[in-house]
Amino acid sequence: MTAQDTLFRPFTSDTLTLKNRIVMAPMTRSMSPGNVPNDKVVDYYRRRAEGGVGLIITEGTIVDHPAASGYPDVPAIYGADALAGWARVVEAVHAAGGKIAPQLWHVGAVRRPGVAPGGDTPGYSPSGMARPGKVTGHAMTQRDIDDVVAAFAKGAADAKKIGFDAVEIHGAHGYLIDQFFWDGTNARDDAYGGDLAARSRFALEIVAAVRAAVGPDFPIILRYSQWKQQDYSARLCDTPEALGAFLGPLADAGVDIFHCSTRRFWQPEFDGSDLNLAGWTRKLTGKPAIAVGSVGLNSDFLPEDGTGAFNAGEPASIDNLIERMARDEFDLVAVGRALIANPDWANRVKAGDFAALVPYDKSLLATLS
Ligand code: FNR
Repeated sequence: MTAQDTLFRPFTSDTLTLKNRIVMAPMTRSMSPGNVPNDKVVDYYRRRAEGGVGLIITEGTIVDHPAASGYPDVPAIYGADALAGWARVVEAVHAAGGKIAPQLWHVGAVRRPGVAPGGDTPGYSPSGMARPGKVTGHAMTQRDIDDVVAAFAKGAADAKKIGFDAVEIHGAHGYLIDQFFWDGTNARDDAYGGDLAARSRFALEIVAAVRAAVGPDFPIILRYSQWKQQDYSARLCDTPEALGAFLGPLADAGVDIFHCSTRRFWQPEFDGSDLNLAGWTRKLTGKPAIAVGSVGLNSDFLPEDGTGAFNAGEPASIDNLIERMARDEFDLVAVGRALIANPDWANRVKAGDFAALVPYDKSLLATLS
């Protein structure tokens, strides 16, 4: 099998068709002053679509809630100016033959007061904790929960209205939805806390509200992870049985495609099988799954010291990826840093022009185009 037969096969699911299997991973850039995507943002995504990516998932976009943002200059998915900016991004990507989904994001307790927009609003989370045992923010009331659920639904409806091809809900990496999933940050004793089924209630309400807002045929992707930015070794599920019990209700609530965030896509998720997290997810749910983590690079993206500056990496072989795609272990693969360094990564790989690929270095983020 070649890259041509695997990565460059079209993808078809119940709700989404793509020209190939390559997805651009969502990557925050902090380059939208006033939370509005500008001409440079249009050019940045256009270039990746021209470079052959099948589906672009945008950087995290903040939903319409005062505590959603945790970082400066991240784009919003609400308000006339931001939506007009995104409409231009969508148009550019479509003109270049690509498809695009916004990542809908609420950072939860990772937020610190002062980050715009939101002013002095503290971090909001299930129990006020961004990390286990440390209360730094506001424990959400039922009213807060309802407001955030509605904000995700509104973001999804607006995304559909302005021409996006799908939405991705950010349920990973220790941000708000994951703060509900994770027992380390969810100590609630109401219907949103307790076992993993109860801790999933918030996500299930968001998925159901998004599904109701976009109708039956619009693709909903859910990104989730075992690891947390607060603890790389954290896990939501220790067995395939537990994973199946976690994901089944999310699929039933309306998730079409699972985006399974790992740092190294080739690592087995559970003992006794080679399947990675996406492989298990596909097998257990029957839904398409996206794998991610160090594709085409010789390092994973998170530094061991947790300092937050993402790791540099040299181009690396994708033979193992091709073998796994040939076995249909997972359906799609997301590429992150390699696509920052090489906007035309997909076209280069398709042409077999691996020698032209350049390394990723974090200095690229500052000058990124
Ligand atoms: C990320 N990642 C990320 N993930 C996410 O779900 N939402 C986001 O906004 C971001 N932001 C972000 C910024 C930057 C600069 C990097 C490098 C990463 C994680 C990203 O989507 C991906 O999972 C990892 O980068 C792993 O893929 P690679 O880079 O190893 O291919």
